[in-house]
Amino acid sequence: MCASRVGAGPAGASGPGRHSGAAVAVRIRQAMPEDAAALAALDASCAADGSSGWSEGIYRTDLQPGGPNLILLAEADEASTGGGEGSCGSCSSSSSSSSSSSGSSSSGSGSTGGLLALAAGSEAGGEVSLTNVAVAAECRGAGLGRRITVELLRRLGSERCPSFLEVRVDNAAAQALYARLGFEVAGRRKRYNPDGSDSLVMTRQPGPLS
Ligand SMILES: CC(C)(COP(=O)(O)OP(=O)(O)OC[C@H]1O[C@@H](n2cnc3c(N)ncnc32)[C@H](O)[C@@H]1OP(=O)(O)O)[C@@H](O)C(=O)NCCC(=O)NCCS
Repeated sequence: MCASRVGAGPAGASGPGRHSGAAVAVRIRQAMPEDAAALAALDASCAADGSSGWSEGIYRTDLQPGGPNLILLAEADEASTGGGEGSCGSCSSSSSSSSSSSGSSSSGSGSTGGLLALAAGSEAGGEVSLTNVAVAAECRGAGLGRRITVELLRRLGSERCPSFLEVRVDNAAAQALYARLGFEVAGRRKRYNPDGSDSLVMTRQPGPLS
């Protein structure tokens, strides 16, 4: 996953940052075509850390009716504040400038439009594919990646279908997230990534997500 949009599934399929400050509630919703630019900006800001780095054009295509991926996004919920899992103490006011976040090799230049996280995936032939996950650097380590990924996988049917993904061998944070969700390493794709590095194939059997 996350280095390429193509690629079939296995069958053919300092730790996370902690932050201080008042926690802001986060809302997760399905992305709309008008979110494409902000999604691409967030993705670009996370690409050096391991996200797919999809362009705005790719997002626009995906967000058309019948597009290949279901895409969810997380944004600050203006209607409520408060803590809880997946809330964020730092990103409420800084998400539109995630490229300047601390401790990250973020490189995006566009505005993320207040987006805090995204997750994308698809279902075909009774198999779920997780194709992208990204959390704004300043919001990591608060459970948001897990929360949006669980929500996406549930909507795609992962609790009753097998699921798979590809992840770079050097992306420990993402592998930890996926292991937390029940994914296990099932194989390795040699030189899968544009820089020649390998990716791991991880699979998950149907079952409850939490
Ligand atoms: C991978 C990523 C999405 C994780 O998002 P996050 O919001 O920080 O993750 P969470 O806080 O929800 O953590 C989920 C689990 O992964 C673990 N984890 C997350 N980051 C970790 C890290 N850097 N090191 C070790 N474990 C980590 C957490 O401990 C947590 O497990 P727990 O629930 O048992 O405590 C985020 O780091 C990111 O956006 N990275 C750049 C883009 C990317 O690599 N995407 C994946 C492409 S395949």
